[in-house]
Amino acid sequence: MQMTRGKILIVDDERFIRMTLAEALRSWNYDPVEAASVEEATRLFSEEEPSVVLLDIDLPDGSGLDVLDEIKRQTPETIVIMITGNVDVPNTIAALRGGAHDFIEKPVRLEELRVTLRNGLEIKQLRREVSAARRERVNQFNFSKIIGESPAILRAKKLAQKVSASDSSILLQGETGTGKDLFARAIHYASERADGPYVAINCAALPATLIESELFGYEKGAFTDAKQKKEGLLEQAQHGTIFLDEIGELELNLQAKLLRVLEENTFRRVGGLKDLPLDVRVIAASNHDLKRESEEEKFRLDLYYRLAVIRLDIPPLKERGDDVLLLAGHYIEKTNEKRRGAKQLRGLSKEVVAIFKDYDWAGNVRELRNVIERASILEDGEFITTEFLPSDLTAGKLQRVANGNFTLPPDGIPLEEVELLLARQAFERKGGNLTQAARLLHISRDQLRYRLKKPGAYKMESASGQRAEDESK
Ligand SMILES: Nc1ncnc2c1ncn2[C@@H]1O[C@H](COP(=O)(O)OP(=O)(O)OP(=O)(O)O)[C@@H](O)[C@H]1O
Ligand SMILES: [Mg+2]
Repeated sequence: MQMTRGKILIVDDERFIRMTLAEALRSWNYDPVEAASVEEATRLFSEEEPSVVLLDIDLPDGSGLDVLDEIKRQTPETIVIMITGNVDVPNTIAALRGGAHDFIEKPVRLEELRVTLRNGLEIKQLRREVSAARRERVNQFNFSKIIGESPAILRAKKLAQKVSASDSSILLQGETGTGKDLFARAIHYASERADGPYVAINCAALPATLIESELFGYEKGAFTDAKQKKEGLLEQAQHGTIFLDEIGELELNLQAKLLRVLEENTFRRVGGLKDLPLDVRVIAASNHDLKRESEEEKFRLDLYYRLAVIRLDIPPLKERGDDVLLLAGHYIEKTNEKRRGAKQLRGLSKEVVAIFKDYDWAGNVRELRNVIERASILEDGEFITTEFLPSDLTAGKLQRVANGNFTLPPDGIPLEEVELLLARQAFERKGGNLTQAARLLHISRDQLRYRLKKPGAYKMESASGQRAEDESK
């Protein structure tokens, strides 16, 4: 049996009309259900859950408009097509306001019904896709996707969550790669504007000559090439959120124009004479200290205060403690997913853990992600070792020792442990080759082996998949 194209509820008190419509619907492969009164229509609607309702207005026990209200209250996505003998204006307006999709006049021309139905179902399908896409975006960008359990990041997340409900401007400040983009989207999708657009604009990426017309749009004839009017990005963000990334790069005269927009909630297209209303929430971001820049007159102080109604400082990665390891684990999982079936990574070697916790991560999460991605491609063992870390990371630590800057921790440290630390580093750096590792430490192979095998020393298999004693050549 062929699948039907959907259940359709016919509501009309005239039996002959119901029969004609039902027959036509069946021949088009729909599945009709019939109701003759308000009471019956309401009951069958709940029982049968049709995707479309053909609805007469004059019914013996009431008005089809009441049925329409009830349907829209229960499942607003149902397509309702009104079928009516005399199209009078008040009823038409009431029905359209009530959410009817369309009208068909009696006597019903079947071809018209068929087209109207097809359109209605298409719209329903589109709506379904749009809301699925929206749900996906909401999931993709919600706060739980911001990884971290350190007090610093939790504080930032908590504040961001709190302010997303409000409508005030937000200034995100943080070094490059700390997650400003991520926060901006999470705030938008947690706000009441989540259904509206999210428009991101990078003030540094647009040439100064273009940015004004990009932001504000232009009227036809505003300049030689303006053959017709164009909407600007602000306008595209209407009823949603605009993310002004790297706002510090905006020219001073544009800063003044932007301030006016934010103060008055209106804007004017380039070459335009009218102020147009604007309803957007602004999230701005900068990776330098805008307050200081405004003191140095590189940024307008008034705009700073207007944007920084709420200022959210995203902490640098090096202030997030063990989040480095959480994030590393997250990116390792991701690379593992990408190469399903192939060799899977199990984590970081102890040595790498120590380096990661100590490194200053100038590029923050982005840098960490790149380091993991690179190492996981090159690494042959189960753990990421120092061998494939960029030299920035490994050099820093060793240099510190070589320069004599190795600072004694407040509680001291057993000298043996220092020795062991360096022995492990050398061993890992040389991929488990004892001879080469020993050469790095200016000791013999046996001396190194002795150090690594001391009780409580180092479980070699948990680092590079090799044991020191296996390497006997
Ligand atoms: N806490 C986090 N959890 C998961 N991923 C993160 C986190 N922070 C940042 N990222 C990821 O790191 C990368 C860089 O983040 P993002 O682009 O948001 O940084 P940014 O602060 O906007 O940097 P820039 O100033 O260079 O534009 C992105 O891939 C982002 O998904
Ligand atoms: Mg960014």
